[in-house]
Amino acid sequence: MEKQLEALKQSFCEELGQAHRAEDIEPMRVKYLGRKGALTSILRQMGTLGPEERPRFGALSNKLKNFIEQALADRLDELKRVSTAGGVDVTLPGRTPRRGGIHIINSVISELEDIFMSLGFTIASGPEVEDDYHNFEALNIPEHHPARDMQDTFYFDKGILLRTHTSPVQIRVMEKTGLPVRIIAPGKVYRCDSDVSHTPMFHQIEGLWVEEGITLAHLKGVLYEFIHRLFGTDVPLRFRPSFFPFTEPSAEVDIGCIMCKGKGCRVCGNSGWLEILGSGMVDPNVYKYVDIDPESVTGFAFGLGIERIAMLKYGIDDIRLFYENDLRFLSQFA
Ligand code: DAH
Repeated sequence: MEKQLEALKQSFCEELGQAHRAEDIEPMRVKYLGRKGALTSILRQMGTLGPEERPRFGALSNKLKNFIEQALADRLDELKRVSTAGGVDVTLPGRTPRRGGIHIINSVISELEDIFMSLGFTIASGPEVEDDYHNFEALNIPEHHPARDMQDTFYFDKGILLRTHTSPVQIRVMEKTGLPVRIIAPGKVYRCDSDVSHTPMFHQIEGLWVEEGITLAHLKGVLYEFIHRLFGTDVPLRFRPSFFPFTEPSAEVDIGCIMCKGKGCRVCGNSGWLEILGSGMVDPNVYKYVDIDPESVTGFAFGLGIERIAMLKYGIDDIRLFYENDLRFLSQFA
């Protein structure tokens, strides 16, 4: 019978360890000490004992009864205290918070901002929901220009759209702050396009420097410095004549392929060159839209895609990886 008491004590203790709510305590009291409880049913067998054994057994059972009562009261106290402490079970092991990181696109943007700020540029921004005037018209993109095609542009009603590039920030800054202007404008842009190298939302950085005496040489100087700081001084640049409605003359800038060092590979389509940005001298027509006398100043502008830079810098071959939120991908750059 002593063994039974011992076993009872052990199963009680185990059960008590599992009691995590104040409501668990009363049922346990009934189970162990109640009229039909476990201890009571052991005591009922007392009659089978000889008179010499009874006092010892009685004392042992009493001791166990007191132990159970005290343990239940203590545990109840503790559980009540925990629940008034805001439901925090201080006995549970702590949770380690997951550490977030800066998204690779944001960290590339910061890197580019640092480079341009050190060259005297300040950072400007504009709305992502733009109007037709700033996104197209004031940039010398006339109404029937293919860039306005419904397939590329996300339109709302009445001449409102999601900006298709960061170039409208050029217009907004010149309208607002006057001259001189030396800004970069990083931000989100939107086009109705989706495949391994296009996502409907992506990022660009726009650059604009307008001031008396600015020439193509300044444009080249800034872009050389920028590319060399980003990809290293051994990377060659090539300015290729091109066309943009808001610059004249215009040039696209290629860099020697950083994957194959110009030898020709899949990434550069065997040409040895990678197209990296668009640029040019601000078209005099653009100044007219922002009330600046085209005879009084000159300036240059450029625009580039951030995702493309990030893909080249880190050897990423699918643009969609940036936006699938797969932590296995993102945490490599955090
Ligand atoms: N806005 C152009 C685009 O999205 C990029 C661009 C080209 C911006 C030439 C410029 C520029 O400022 O001068 O394709």
